[in-house]
This record gives sequence, structure tokens and C-alpha cells, in this order.
Amino acid sequence: MSENAHYDVVIVGSGAAGLTAALALADTAKVAVLAKGSLTGGSTAWAQGGIAAVLDEGDTFAEHIHDTMVAGAGLNRRETVEFVIERAPAAIERLIALGVPFNKTPEYEASGDAGDLHLTREGGHSHRRIVHVNDATGWAVQEALLKAAEAHPNIALLPGRTCIDLVTGRHEERYSGSGRVWGVYALNEATGHVETHLGRATILATGGAGRVYQFSTAPRGATGDGIAMAWRAGCRVGNMEMMQFHPTCLFNREVKNFLITEAVRGEGGHLINPKSGHRYMPDYDERAELAPRDIVARANDAEIKRDGLDFVHLDISHQPPEFVKEHFPTIHEKLLGLGIDMTTQPIPVVPAQHYTCGGVIIDLNGRTDLPGLYAAGECTESGLHGANRLASNSLLECFVFGEAAAADIKARWDEFAAPPAIRPWDESRVTDSDEEVVIQQNWTEIRRFMWNYVGIVRTTKRLQRAARRIELLKHEVEDYYGHFRVSTDLIELRNLLQSAELIVRSALARHESRGLHFILDYPETLAQARDTVLIP
Ligand code: FAD
Ligand code: SIN
Repeated sequence: MSENAHYDVVIVGSGAAGLTAALALADTAKVAVLAKGSLTGGSTAWAQGGIAAVLDEGDTFAEHIHDTMVAGAGLNRRETVEFVIERAPAAIERLIALGVPFNKTPEYEASGDAGDLHLTREGGHSHRRIVHVNDATGWAVQEALLKAAEAHPNIALLPGRTCIDLVTGRHEERYSGSGRVWGVYALNEATGHVETHLGRATILATGGAGRVYQFSTAPRGATGDGIAMAWRAGCRVGNMEMMQFHPTCLFNREVKNFLITEAVRGEGGHLINPKSGHRYMPDYDERAELAPRDIVARANDAEIKRDGLDFVHLDISHQPPEFVKEHFPTIHEKLLGLGIDMTTQPIPVVPAQHYTCGGVIIDLNGRTDLPGLYAAGECTESGLHGANRLASNSLLECFVFGEAAAADIKARWDEFAAPPAIRPWDESRVTDSDEEVVIQQNWTEIRRFMWNYVGIVRTTKRLQRAARRIELLKHEVEDYYGHFRVSTDLIELRNLLQSAELIVRSALARHESRGLHFILDYPETLAQARDTVLIP
């Protein structure tokens, strides 16, 4: 039997986007924040490099906007880029107020001016503009947001809830035809029962779909749940073919998805072909190691494929050991534990999926296509990133759109009716699964063919192969979903497959190479940049 819980606003996701929205709403609304597994299980806690913001006197919004549009290969929506970048300094001030201990310069102690925070540099940025907490910025941000949320009496933090689907007009006891979203059905991982969490407004802040690929820097739960839920409920999704691959993920037989931050290149690291000893990035781009990520990832991939390598080398050992240890304490320690001393040795690295640029289409208020449903952060397509995200722009997007969604909900509060009577989740027809192996088999299969057929360099033939496999798996997974009691693994598999389908359909629809979408059959970039929009 399902239980109903009522709040003013239901937020799915406890990362940067979800908690920012919760804190911005909580003074006037009762908020529930639901998370799959632990409250720190999203990508936010894993972010390394930092947050991009124009803080230095010599830097300008115009340059940050320009860099973002260049990285995004012109597919960005300019009004979104301006909207986000102009709000970055205020977002950093709010984080400072929450106690995030950003690295400071000696001048900061005297001035207290955010312009005197230490700024690092990353690929695609024409200026030093990344504020950071050593090389573990995300953990510091996650901790500060969570501490503030835990202390707020109007925020109910509900970990261990895997949301299955949005509650919509279809689930009303007496269907009103309103098309409204009223909250979510969520599996309580501890009890095994499905709960109904209802609110006048709902915000999806569920992160990306990186785990659809075999190799990814993203955490286990990045299975595209929010994107798939929104799609099933009737939202458009955009630019799902724009999957970002980070050039430098650690190559190690035991540790599969440890990122080596772009800031290592920002602080002077070189990419070296281990076979020839040649520093190759200047051959590919005049910005060398600081070219945008898509260019560096493709260069690494090309060197690996051409010379049959397992990895390339990232080398910062020419910098003084103290400098390396001071800038990258977390990475230094982690690598030492694996027998690599980055102050004297190169680091073996490979490209891996890193960020989902596409997602649920939102406007500048975080509104989706469905009344009552908002979205923020990596699960969205806001227009900020276009065809390729500029480094350290994504945490920023979470802060800006978390705030924007909250502001819109507050401004329109009187328009939001209380939820009507909702049908509980029907658990009567399903039994426990007898073959968990089916889930594992399908999960592995999807991640393999997505890596091999829908990776850094694509062809129409490979994309069509992937599409055929997805069709076959869809029947199997839906059949399984229809017959057995839901589990987190099954919910994720269903969403992973849905995300894979959206990525492949989008990739097949774009007949050009632009930014992250590089397809050998269409190597040219068309004169006009157009979003790929899929309509349910
Ligand atoms: P997340 O932080 O991923 O949180 C998602 C939340 O949704 C989690 O709480 C999760 O439990 C919950 N959730 C998901 N599905 C469900 C469901 N079905 N039911 C209930 N809850 C659900 N960006 C930068 O700007 N700078 C960086 O330096 C940087 N470094 C990075 C390093 C790594 C290794 C990675 C992987 C990413 C990095 N990024 C960086 C990207 C950035 O971290 C993410 O884009 C950002 O944190 C996403 O935040 P979010 O709030 O949208 O989602
Ligand atoms: C990194 O530190 O290289 C990741 C930065 C980002 O993803 O924006």
C-alpha cells in the first residue's frame, strides 16, 4: 500500500541544483528533497576544478560569454549565456556566505573582495577565472549546501528514495485534463514500498546520464532518471547527442573513473605520447593543452587509436614538487596510493564520458513544458552549453537555475493549486524478480555499445547499429518492468535505456559535425546552428 506525503515543493536531487533551489525556497515554503542513495551521491560532490566566474578586474563578462559561445560552437542560446554569466559573481558571494572555503590570495585577507580569491585556469578560458577549493571544490560546495539545508526547519531531506515517475494528470483520481505535474512516485529503498510525494510544484535536479557509457567520470547514479521521467511525462528534450568526453580520466586497472582535473593542464601540464615522447597538442590546436575539451579529447583518442596505445601521458613533473602538491593535494595523494608520484612521474590518462550537455528543455525561469514542473542543473538543456560545455560552467548553471526556478515558483505561488486526490502506486500485480542477471546483462550491454558505437567519433552506420540494439532491448526491459516489482537497478536500467535512445535518435538527426558531435559521414559544420529537439 502506498503512502502520500504532502509538501509545497518536491525537489528530486540533492546536488548543487537541488539544494540551491531548496535553500532559496525554504523561507516561504515547505520543501522535500529526495535523493537516490545517499545525499552526497551525485556529481556535485565529485567536482574538482572549480566554478567559473568573472571576478578579476582584468576580466569581463563579454570575454566569459565569448569563451562559452566558442566552446559551444555557436549552438548556445546567447540570452541564457548572458543570464548565467552575469549572475556568477553573486552566486560565488552566496557560497562564500555559506562558508565555502575557496582558495584565497594573500590580498584577500585584507580586502575580503571576491576578486582576490585564487583563480585557476582551464581549457577554453581566455582568462584565469575559476574559483576553487584546492582540487576538491565539489565536496566543499556539497558540504556547505547540505549543512545549511540540514539546519533549515522547512527542508525535509529524504535520502534512499529512487523516484520512478512523475505524478501527472494521468494519476489523478478524477482526471481533470490539466496536464499538471503533482510530484513523484518514489521507491523507498529501505522498505521496498513505493511512496507518493506530492507538491504544488516539482523541480527535477537529477544530474546527468553519463553512466550510459562504459567509461565515465560520473558517479554510479548518473543514469538519466530525470531526463527519462520528464520525457515519459511529455517534456521535450534537446541536444542529447552532445555528450562531453573529458580528455583526462585516470587509466588504472583498479580505479575506473577517477578524474584528473583540467586544472592540471591549466597549471602547465603537458600531454605526451608515451610511445614517441612527443608533446602532441600543439600539432592539433594553437591553444595546445588549453584548447576546449572536445578538441583535446579527440586528440587523445586519435593518438591512442593511431599508435595502439592503452593511454597517453599527462605530465606536470616539470613544475616544482611543492607547487604540484599545493595545487592538487587530493589527486597527488590518490595517485601515490596507486604507486604514481605525479611530482616526478607522468600520469596515464584516457578520455571518458564526463558531462551531459543536453537534457530537459527549460526557459530562463527553469520552467519545463509541463505546468508545475521545473528543472535545473545537468539534467537540463538551458541553452548555456550549446555543442560543448566550457569547463567549470556547470556548477555555475546549477546555482543560477536553482535560484531562478525557486524565484519563479515564489513569484507565481498563488497560481499553484494544491494537488487533487492522486491514485496510489499499484503494487498488486507484480512479483519479485527471479532473474536479476537480466538487469546486469542489459546494463552492461547498453554501456558497451554506447561506448563503441556512439562515442567520441561517430558514423551513421554505427549509430544505426546502436538504434537496432536499443529497439530489441526496449521490449525486453519493458516486459521485465511490467512484470516484476521495481528495484533501484531496474528503475535505472529503464532510464539508462531511455537516455541511450534519446542520444542515438538525436545523433542520427544531426547531419553535421559540431562541437561534441563528430560524425565521419558529415564532417562539415553547417552555416546555421540548430538545436536537436525531440518531442514525445
Ligand atoms: P548531481 O550533483 O549529479 O545530483 C543529482 C542528484 O539527483 C543526486 O542527489 C541523486 O541522488 C539524485 N537523483 C538522480 N536520480 C534520482 C532518482 N531517480 N530519484 C531520486 N534522486 C535522484 N563542473 C564544474 O562546473 N566544475 C568542476 O570542477 C566539475 N568537475 C567535475 C568532476 C567530475 C568527476 C564530474 C563527474 C563532474 C564534474 N563537473 C564539474 C560537473 C558537475 O559536477 C555537475 O554537472 C553538477 O555537479 C551537477 O549537479 P546537479 O545538481 O545537476 O546533479
Ligand atoms: C575538471 O576539473 O577538469 C572538471 C571541470 C569541469 O568539468 O567543469
